[in-house]
Amino acid sequence: MGKQQDVFSDILKDDISEASERVVALTFDDGPKIGKTEALLKMLKEKNVQATFFLIGAQAEAEPELVKRMCIEGHQIGMHTYTHVDLGSMNEAEQRKEIEDTQKVLENISGKTQFLLRPPFGRINDTLEAWVPCPMILWSIDTRDWTGRDGGEIVLDVCEHIKDGDIILMHDISENGLEAAAGIIDELKWMGYTFLTIDQLFELKKIPLEDGKVYHNAR
Ligand code: NI
Repeated sequence: MGKQQDVFSDILKDDISEASERVVALTFDDGPKIGKTEALLKMLKEKNVQATFFLIGAQAEAEPELVKRMCIEGHQIGMHTYTHVDLGSMNEAEQRKEIEDTQKVLENISGKTQFLLRPPFGRINDTLEAWVPCPMILWSIDTRDWTGRDGGEIVLDVCEHIKDGDIILMHDISENGLEAAAGIIDELKWMGYTFLTIDQLFELKKIPLEDGKVYHNAR
C-alpha cells in the first residue's frame, strides 16, 4: 500500500512539473488598430488570457485609450518602432529616433518606463545591439496570419509545432487573426498550455532578459 501510494504521488508530481513545463507567450504586432484591436481584447478577456502587444509608436499615440485598456486588462506592452521601420538598415541616430519616440509615447500613456523591443521584420544590426537599452524579443512560432491563411490551418499548424517556452507571433490587424488566435488559445489550453506575458514567461523560466540581447523563445 505504502509503495503504491509512492508510485501515485510520483505520477502526481510528474503531472505538476509537466504542467509548469507547458507555458507559452502570445504576441501581437503592429497595433493598436482602431476597429480591430477591440475585438481581440474582448476575446482575450473572455478567455482570461494575457498577451504581449508590440505597438507601433505613431499608432499608440493616436489611440492612447486602446493602449491604456491593454495595460488595465493585464497585457504587457512593448515597442515595435515609431513608424514600423527596418532597424537593420539604419544608423544609430535613425534607430534612436524610432525607438526613443516610441518609448516616450508608451511612457506617457502607461506610466511605465521599461519596454521590450520587437524589431520589425526581425531585422537588427550590430549598431543596434551595441546601444539598444532593452532586450529584443523575436519569436519561435510564426503564424504568418497576415498572409490571409485560413484560421483553422493556422491553429493546426501551431498545435503541431508548439513547444514549452515558445513565443507565438501574430498581428492584431490581420483579417483572420482573431479567429486563429481564439482557436490557438482553446486548443493549446486543451493540450495543457498556459499563456503568459513575455515578462512572466522569462521570470518563470528564470531566464534573465538582458539589454541588447535577442531572444527567440524562453528555453
Ligand atoms: Ni510588424
